[in-house]
Amino acid sequence: MAVRPILVLPDKRLRAVSTAVARVDKEVRALVEDMFETMYDAPGVGLAAVQIGVPKRVIIVDPTRGEEEKRPVALMNPELVWSSEEQDIVEEGCLSIPEITEDVERASKVKVRYLDLHGKSRELEAEGLLARVLQHEIDHTNGVLFIDYISRLKRQRIIKKFAKAAKRAG
Ligand code: NI
Repeated sequence: MAVRPILVLPDKRLRAVSTAVARVDKEVRALVEDMFETMYDAPGVGLAAVQIGVPKRVIIVDPTRGEEEKRPVALMNPELVWSSEEQDIVEEGCLSIPEITEDVERASKVKVRYLDLHGKSRELEAEGLLARVLQHEIDHTNGVLFIDYISRLKRQRIIKKFAKAAKRAG
């Protein structure tokens, strides 16, 4: 297991559309272990494989915080099969866009179909923070970032800021 570096804006690899996992094998399980280590180290409540430079449709979530007992879930080939008409607006952030938060409107409840670590097809119904994190991470597998939901002006300001920082870092 290892903590892997997380790609940060404006890294173009964050815009890659991830490919489906053909089989949940040892390699995928090792990737998931690294992802959990990386996410808890950050710390964050969700991570997509593409954020560590692996464009595969693998996401992990754990909406618990602090001293709460952890509830880690790994989802391979996650797919939104239902989302509620009801939506919430909540302030959101992303490990690939550090220190930026913006209000994002998303479905309040979702149903996600995915393969678990044994390659078994499962469904997960979620609401609240978990529903939000699932939508955010599935977006990552399609090269979509939460800043894509805010105004163009705000988004470009954020992208510019990160491009400048990257330049300074050489
Ligand atoms: Ni993110």
